[in-house]
Amino acid sequence: MNVAIIGCGYVGSAIAQHWQQKTALIVTATTTTPERIPALQALAQRVLIVQGNDTEALKSILKNQDAALLSVAAKQSSSYEETYLQTAYALVSALKQTPSVQQLIYTSSCSVYGEQHGALVDEETPIAPTTANGRILGETEQVLLSASSENLRICILRLGGIYGPGRELVKIYQRLAGTTRPGSGQEPANWIHLDDIVAAIEFARRHRFQGIYNLVDEDNLTNAEVAARVCELHNLPLVVWDSSLSSQRPYNAKVSNQKIKDAGYQFIHPYMLFD
Ligand SMILES: NC(=O)c1ccc[n+]([C@@H]2O[C@H](COP(=O)([O-])OP(=O)(O)OC[C@H]3O[C@@H](n4cnc5c(N)ncnc54)[C@H](OP(=O)(O)O)[C@@H]3O)[C@@H](O)[C@H]2O)c1
Repeated sequence: MNVAIIGCGYVGSAIAQHWQQKTALIVTATTTTPERIPALQALAQRVLIVQGNDTEALKSILKNQDAALLSVAAKQSSSYEETYLQTAYALVSALKQTPSVQQLIYTSSCSVYGEQHGALVDEETPIAPTTANGRILGETEQVLLSASSENLRICILRLGGIYGPGRELVKIYQRLAGTTRPGSGQEPANWIHLDDIVAAIEFARRHRFQGIYNLVDEDNLTNAEVAARVCELHNLPLVVWDSSLSSQRPYNAKVSNQKIKDAGYQFIHPYMLFD
């Protein structure tokens, strides 16, 4: 089988490596950065420079592919509109002309749930993004889902905050240690380890998932609890929360992972790794 990874950064590289080393899949990876080609060539059989909004380039890489993974993330120099939405439109257009592709998996974000006042949400819950970028992520999902057909399964994995090797929690939280943060810190944290992202993408591919699946671990900790545990473990000054200020977090929802568990997925790290 041939599989193309459009956007091969932290997540894309990890799954490329998994597919290349642990399965018989032939991997094509894309980047927008010529300097990254040598590193990606160690993880994929074919590496190409592709801008997500280039329908012709997408058509050319999708030719003869059986499945594709879309895992782009906006750089500081570009907008969500360009990175996610324009890529989604171009990809849907390219997929119409590349009938060999039977499944597209897209790594979306739980932030599309937006303001749910901390309530438990599942894949049936209407999304309520509160920011312009959150709305673009929601629209991106809709554009991609609109390409679903008898021959093409579209699977959206809504990821929680990503951590793992190289993106350890301590690296993320040491910037915040000892500072005062707006809000109470009581929002559900919703994290997911890179190992589970890789395993769930492969599970979704093997079981030909169609539709939306949340991907967050079992821990149910709040932001304040995660921050406190990381700071205590690494002897960092604690984060102070100021409830008189409103939180800057773009979403407040306790995300259910029941659907993916019901489909048979078993978490590698159901509880967060703090060290
Ligand atoms: N970070 C989080 O905590 C989090 C939480 C929830 C969901 N997610 C989602 O998880 C996914 C993977 O994130 P990540 O951490 O792996 O991202 P990442 O390391 O920043 O990698 C993103 C990749 O997208 C590529 N890219 C950026 N703009 C592009 C464009 N216009 N056209 C084509 N490719 C483009 C980059 O290309 P280059 O190779 O040129 O750099 C890079 O390979 C993203 O879809 C993100 O939305 C992330």
